[in-house]
Amino acid sequence: MQETKKPFFYDITLRDGNQALKKPWNTKEKEIIFNQLLSLGVQGIEVGFSGASDMDFEACSYLASIAPDNVVISALARAVKHDIEKVAAAIKSANKPRIHTFIAMSPFNMKYVLRKEPDEVKKIAIDAVKYAKSLMGEKGEVQFSVEHFGDCKENLPYVIDSLKEIVDAGATIINLPNTVERTRPLEFVKMINEVVKALPEHVTIAVHCHNDLGMATATTVESYFAGAVQLECSLNGLGERAGNTNLYEVAVTLHNSEIDIHLDLSKIYETALIVAEMSGVEIYEKCALIGPDALAHRSGIHQDGALKTKDMEKGAYRPIHPSLIGRDDDEKLGFTSQSGKTAVYEIITKAGYPITMQEAVRITPAIKEAAEKVGELPTRNILDIYLKEIFEVKGNFKLIEFKRIDEGKFNLQFTYKDKKFKLNGMGDGPLSGCLDALKQAGFPQKLLHYEQVAMDEELKGVDADAMTIIHFETPDKQVVVCRGKDNSTAKANVKAVFNGLNLIEQLHNS
Ligand code: KIV
Ligand code: ZN
Repeated sequence: MQETKKPFFYDITLRDGNQALKKPWNTKEKEIIFNQLLSLGVQGIEVGFSGASDMDFEACSYLASIAPDNVVISALARAVKHDIEKVAAAIKSANKPRIHTFIAMSPFNMKYVLRKEPDEVKKIAIDAVKYAKSLMGEKGEVQFSVEHFGDCKENLPYVIDSLKEIVDAGATIINLPNTVERTRPLEFVKMINEVVKALPEHVTIAVHCHNDLGMATATTVESYFAGAVQLECSLNGLGERAGNTNLYEVAVTLHNSEIDIHLDLSKIYETALIVAEMSGVEIYEKCALIGPDALAHRSGIHQDGALKTKDMEKGAYRPIHPSLIGRDDDEKLGFTSQSGKTAVYEIITKAGYPITMQEAVRITPAIKEAAEKVGELPTRNILDIYLKEIFEVKGNFKLIEFKRIDEGKFNLQFTYKDKKFKLNGMGDGPLSGCLDALKQAGFPQKLLHYEQVAMDEELKGVDADAMTIIHFETPDKQVVVCRGKDNSTAKANVKAVFNGLNLIEQLHNS
C-alpha cells in the first residue's frame, strides 16, 4: 500500500447528479447547490455537461464566472470537438478551468456500443485530449476518463498503454470510473493500483464510482488508499441509476481513518437537507449518517449503550458524534417490544415527567405489552401508560374517602379485598392521620421520605396542582417509591399512600 496524498474532493452533483434528476436544475438552482459545495470546501466542482443543452451551457458559464480562485471548475465533454469547444467556452472565466473528456475503453463497450476497434478508440481519446489541451493553454487542465474502467480487467494492458499516450497528449488527471458497479470492490481497487504504478508521478489518479451494488463508498475509500487522490463524489449520492459515491460517507470515513481532509464536515447535514428538497429525492430512513433513522436506537441493549455514552465523542452505537456533521438532533430512542427500561426512563424524563429508574423498571412490562401490539409506540402512548401505572396503581387497596373532621383528626374510608374500613386517624397533618388510621386497620407502614412538589417544578405535564412523593420501607427493607397527584395537597398525600400500599403488596406477591 502506498503513502497517501491529501484527498482532492471533486464533486459531480451538478453534472452526474443533475443528469439523473427527473427535472434537471436551472442556473439559479445550480447556484444554490454550488454555494453549498463551496461552504463544504470541496476542491473541484464539475458544473455540468455544457453540450447537453443551452440551459446547461448557461449554467456552466455562470458558475465558472462566480467561482472562487482556488476551486477547480470543470465541465464534461464527449471526445468530440463540438463538446470540447462548448466546455472551453463555458468555463473560460474560471481561474482554474478544466476540460473533462472521456470515452469508453472496455472490450464490451468498444464492441457493442461504440462499435470501434481499440486502436480507433485510443486515437479518438488522444486527439480529444490534444485538442482540449490546445484550447486550455497553460492556464487550464485536461482530465480524461476511461468510461467503464471497471469492465477493463481483461484489457488492462491496452488501457494502461493508451493512458500513457493520453498523458503525453496533455491529460494530467486520469479518472478511472466504475461506470457500472458489477463485482467486488477489491478487484476494482487492484486495477486502480496497477494504473497508479504505471503512470508518471505527476498524474493525478481519480476514481468515480457508481453505486449499483451499494459499495461505491467502500470502493472509493479503498481506491484512495491504493493511490487514487481525486475522489469523485456527489451530494446525497445523486447520480445515474443507484447514484454515485456519497460525498459525506467518504469524507467521514476518511476523517475517522485519521486522514486530513479539507472539508467543513459541519455543513454536511444542512447540505443534505437542501439537496433532498431541491432534487425531490428524499433521504431514505436508513441512509448512513443523514437518514432520519440513523440516530435511532430501538433494542434495549443499544439504548443502554447509547445513553451511557451519549455525551462522549465516541458512542457505543454510532460512528461519529452527530454534531460532527452539524446534526443537532440527539440520538433518538424509539420504543418497541425490543426496547427496555433505560428507554422508558429516558423517554419519560425527556418529555418532562418525573420518574425514577425503579419506577421505569416497574412500568416497562406494561409499555412493552402495548408495543407488542402496535410496533413503535409514540411518546404520547408511553406517557398515558406512565400516568396510569404510576398514579393509579391497581390492587386490593381502594380508597373511598378521606376527610378532615377536626383539628388533628381525619376520617379514612377504604376497602381491602372484600372488607370495608372506616376509621378515624390522629396526626398533625393528613399524612400522619392517614398512616395512623391504616395502622389501626392492621396495615402499618414505615415512612422513609415525604415530599410535596408544586406544579411548576417537577410536575410538568402532570395534570394536577400538587404531587406527593413518598418512599416506604417494606418489612424486607426494600424501598418503594410512590406518587399521588390531586388538586388538593391532602388528597395527593393519601393517593400516594394507597398507590404505595398496592405496590408493596405487588412486591410481596411477586
Ligand atoms: O460514470 C462514468 O463513467 C462517468 C464518466 C463520464 C466520467 O460519469
Ligand atoms: Zn458517472
